[in-house]
Amino acid sequence: MILALLSSAPAARAFMQSRKVSPLLPPSASLAQAATTTHRKIAPVSFPSSSESRLYSVPSTPFDDGKSPFEITTPIYYVNDKPHIGHAYTSLACDVIARYMRHSGRDVFFLSGTDEHGQKVETTAKNAGMDPQSFCDEVSQSFRDLLTLLNVSNDDFIRTTESHHKEAVQHLWKTLMDKGAIYLGSYEGWYSVRDECYYNESELVDGKAPTGAEVEWVKKEDSYFFKLSDYEDKLLEYYESHPDLLAPVSRKNEVVSFVKGGLKDLSISRTTFDWGVPVPGDDDHVMYVWIDALTNYMSALGYPNMEEGSKFDKYWPASLHIVGKDILRFHAVYWPAFLMAAGLPLPKRIFAHGWWTKDGEKISKSLGNVIDPVDLVETYGVDPTRFFLMAEVNFGSDGNFSDEKMIYKINANLSNELGNLNQRIMTLVFKNCNKAVPVEMGELTDEDKKILATAASLRERTGTAISTQSIHEYVQHMVSMVWDANKYIDVQAPWVLKKTDTERMNTVLYVLMEVMRHVAILYQPLMPTSSNVILDQLGVPENEREFEHLEKEECKILPGREVSKPKAVFPRFEVPEPVSA
Ligand code: MSP
Repeated sequence: MILALLSSAPAARAFMQSRKVSPLLPPSASLAQAATTTHRKIAPVSFPSSSESRLYSVPSTPFDDGKSPFEITTPIYYVNDKPHIGHAYTSLACDVIARYMRHSGRDVFFLSGTDEHGQKVETTAKNAGMDPQSFCDEVSQSFRDLLTLLNVSNDDFIRTTESHHKEAVQHLWKTLMDKGAIYLGSYEGWYSVRDECYYNESELVDGKAPTGAEVEWVKKEDSYFFKLSDYEDKLLEYYESHPDLLAPVSRKNEVVSFVKGGLKDLSISRTTFDWGVPVPGDDDHVMYVWIDALTNYMSALGYPNMEEGSKFDKYWPASLHIVGKDILRFHAVYWPAFLMAAGLPLPKRIFAHGWWTKDGEKISKSLGNVIDPVDLVETYGVDPTRFFLMAEVNFGSDGNFSDEKMIYKINANLSNELGNLNQRIMTLVFKNCNKAVPVEMGELTDEDKKILATAASLRERTGTAISTQSIHEYVQHMVSMVWDANKYIDVQAPWVLKKTDTERMNTVLYVLMEVMRHVAILYQPLMPTSSNVILDQLGVPENEREFEHLEKEECKILPGREVSKPKAVFPRFEVPEPVSA
């Protein structure tokens, strides 16, 4: 074959580019064509038809056009305690989606931060013998450090004690006041400091909040109220006309029933403590922590500056708020009502994920079963931790953590299936193909075309999953692609072909490298470091690792390019002896 005559990689690339064909197929039947035919059949939601727009997009949905600037947010975390698995989980889910969107060519603004005001933080700081601000500075830093440790790619980290945020909240307050949505009254009733939430008598269960938190009686005090009762019908109409605003559906139904049950005006200021944003024009009051906290999603974009060309103009309304199921009510009822009252656009999607339990029990400090994400990373490494937390549970459902499950999953899906496959391919190439990508290859068989087509459809399938926040489905597509590749290598047995038919061995190894290129590029949002180690081993140039490069003929694995001696990518862990009951 003519490619065998081209000894250097640049020469081979120049040759490939001049012909603009795959090394394996005649111009009339390129891999891209074979693949396109298949993925059109598979994908339930489609990319825009023009291939140009596809380079910068993910599949569109009723709530997202798949290509506009994309603001994605984590909840901002209370600084009353150090970070735990729940904080790590929400942040990682957002990170996977944010990275997926960026690799798809989208302009992303990924926001996280800390929620630093309110009675809970004030009390915790006092108990620690610290002034609230120094306490917040210290704990907020531990949240930042966690994001760095987990390789989370947030673009900004907002703190609600920053002055620009406080100004933004006061501006929103004044707007609501001007629009007649706030009035002064007096409040008495139940309040849970842990939940930072007011509860009606009828909601209490055995004298506690429905969440199990202690409640205290707030004696009659002056309070400003937000006219939430005005928004009952407006919210219900909005949910009806925007059926995809809230997800998953089961949680949406809970919200709708809550609103249908009747909304009372909401107390939004307190006078009995002062760790909060002062109410403009009435210094006796500080704002309710949730009106302060929710505004972070806009203050980080420079609100109240809403001029054309501003950050706010570009990214608001937010494309996606990811929250835990416990705080959906604040995001799905109060936040849209505040925004409606202020005449501002509503976020496009609010997704509530489930909660982790440990060995079947609720995670709590008092039970002593808190899972420290720093320990997880120290024990299992960053990418395996990211992988497990995203792969183990259907995003939206609750999940149960155990070290056994974590070890089992890491060993099976990462070490045995992905790591081993990579090691086998790269070792065979290194030993049998002169330490370079095979050059002399034969025609593709149906099996080759089939697996290449499956790989080529992976972007669309994973894109559909990510666009609907089905992170587990994205992982499942990736895992199953690796299974297919393992089956393919076992059936084709290139180690046997080495003795009988080297041209066929070369073809099989090339096909596998090309499949691995797809796998590693598309795994970057979930396992950024390990995927890039695989891409390095495959010799994929650093500037050819975006999703647009998947389909580009000239970015395919380059015949003749040198490969280095492969190293293991994922560790294996010993499963601990089962503990007898
Ligand atoms: N400060 C508020 C959010 C304000 S957003 C404008 C808050 N903070 S939090 O620190 O208490 O919780 C942050 C997130 O962690 C929530 O989404 C919550 O659901 C999540 N988790 C807390 N414990 C959890 C688990 N055990 N499992 C999964 N996530 C959980 O609420």
